[in-house]
Amino acid sequence: MTQDEMKKAAGWAALDYVTKGSIVGVGTGSTVNHFIDALATRKEEIKGAVSSSVASTQRLEAIGIPVFDANEVSALDIYVDGADEINPDFDMIKGGGAALTREKIVAAIAKKFICIVDNTKEVDVLGAFPLPVEVIPMARSFIGRELVKLGGDPVYREGVITDNGNIILDVHNLKITDAKDLESKINALPGVVTVGLFAQRGADVLLVGSPDGVKTVTK
Ligand code: A5P
Repeated sequence: MTQDEMKKAAGWAALDYVTKGSIVGVGTGSTVNHFIDALATRKEEIKGAVSSSVASTQRLEAIGIPVFDANEVSALDIYVDGADEINPDFDMIKGGGAALTREKIVAAIAKKFICIVDNTKEVDVLGAFPLPVEVIPMARSFIGRELVKLGGDPVYREGVITDNGNIILDVHNLKITDAKDLESKINALPGVVTVGLFAQRGADVLLVGSPDGVKTVTK
């Protein structure tokens, strides 16, 4: 079974959590793209979606699912998104696709975060995947120096401007043992828009695609 087939299995499994008449929070990435394909089969039943990126919005609209502005919606039942890494406490690294800030906003609005991954994303300790940090461009060098003080090796993601007009620093060589604490520390640096650690608001349900099927883990 390929990695993409495992992503597809997890994406389609998330369809079971979609309720009639609801507005669904939709993340970003290749696993979510499978979820969007699945959602298309039930598009008549839902009111629409709140999207976490321009890319997901385009995909949702192309298949005829209305996309609401996050400001029009006071609560979402579910938010479905992938992750770059997830640990046994359901803390995640996200932002490989540079959509971390809007992902964090939509996740915060939702009652339940359903994380869809293939089994290569499960780790004991976060940090082998470089931690993305969205930064206001004028703070790039300052934040780089601060991230070195925190023990990481930041690398500027060449050629990437986020949907919000900012840049991404990917922090290599971290071993993240206290994800909540590191999330607070990096978020507190002036010029950081969002760190791609999702620990203070982690996942609630984990759907893992593997060659043996989809494993469901609930907190
Ligand atoms: C997007 O910015 C990310 O947070 C994605 O959720 C994450 O990178 C997972 O992507 P894939 O589903 O493409 O592996």
